[in-house]
Amino acid sequence: MVAEKTAKKLFSVTLRVWRQAGPAQAGRFVDYPAANVNPDMSFLELLDVVNDGLTVKGEEPIAFAHDCREGICGTCSCTINGKPHGPGHGIATCQLYLRSFREGDVIVVEPFRARAFPLVKDLVVDRSAFDKIQQAGGFISVRAGTAPDANSAPVPKRDADLAMDAATCIGCGACVAACKNSSAMLFVAAKVSHLGLLPQGQPERDSRVLAMVQTMDEAGFGSCTNQYECSAVCPKLISHDFIARMNRDYVKALFKSRFQPVSLGGGGGAG
Ligand code: SF4
Ligand code: FES
Repeated sequence: MVAEKTAKKLFSVTLRVWRQAGPAQAGRFVDYPAANVNPDMSFLELLDVVNDGLTVKGEEPIAFAHDCREGICGTCSCTINGKPHGPGHGIATCQLYLRSFREGDVIVVEPFRARAFPLVKDLVVDRSAFDKIQQAGGFISVRAGTAPDANSAPVPKRDADLAMDAATCIGCGACVAACKNSSAMLFVAAKVSHLGLLPQGQPERDSRVLAMVQTMDEAGFGSCTNQYECSAVCPKLISHDFIARMNRDYVKALFKSRFQPVSLGGGGGAG
């Protein structure tokens, strides 16, 4: 009886997937019909099933990035029906289930498209530009080996909550893919704010924002024009308010750097 009920739920969709063997090759959409799929199957599981079929037929499976499949690692980045991470709200692609679609749907799947995220293959893009931004300033230099007594460095509740909100960024790049300017401001603002809101992040607060923004610009990301498409698709619902916070930090740090040199890791101080 249970099996019968489950069987009734199965439906068929068509995956229309961007296939591109490499950055130098031309790409195109290819249709892959998927019959009798379970609505409780995740979107990545559907890609697994389609890839199993391709492998059995001796065809090249679809390349897509994934790791945790729990909304943590940020690697499962692709655009589904024109929206980074697909039709859900506050979820990554790996948390999307087929019950979000209907019988007969044609589901268009393509890679994140941004100059700073060059295509590697099919749905996989190179997001190492984010790593470079992190390396430019996403760290602290204070000793953090042993957890201190919490009372020794009290953090106001509001700051702690905001820092935690910013820290949930998984570096997926959906904000960049959604932005018409391919701006990385939401990602960078989250990383800058996460540390800049905490006492341990103060020594490099100025140098951090200057270095991370400079690295972001050098990587080829565009500017923010306040469309807020970034926060609308962010799987962690990170607010675009962090962009305003970063801009304030940046202007202050730039102003201070006119009067005293700011070097990364050199204890620029901000307070
Ligand atoms: S800000 Fe949101 S959309 Fe952008 S990289 Fe972080 S988690 Fe992804
Ligand atoms: S696979 Fe890790 S966030 Fe989706």
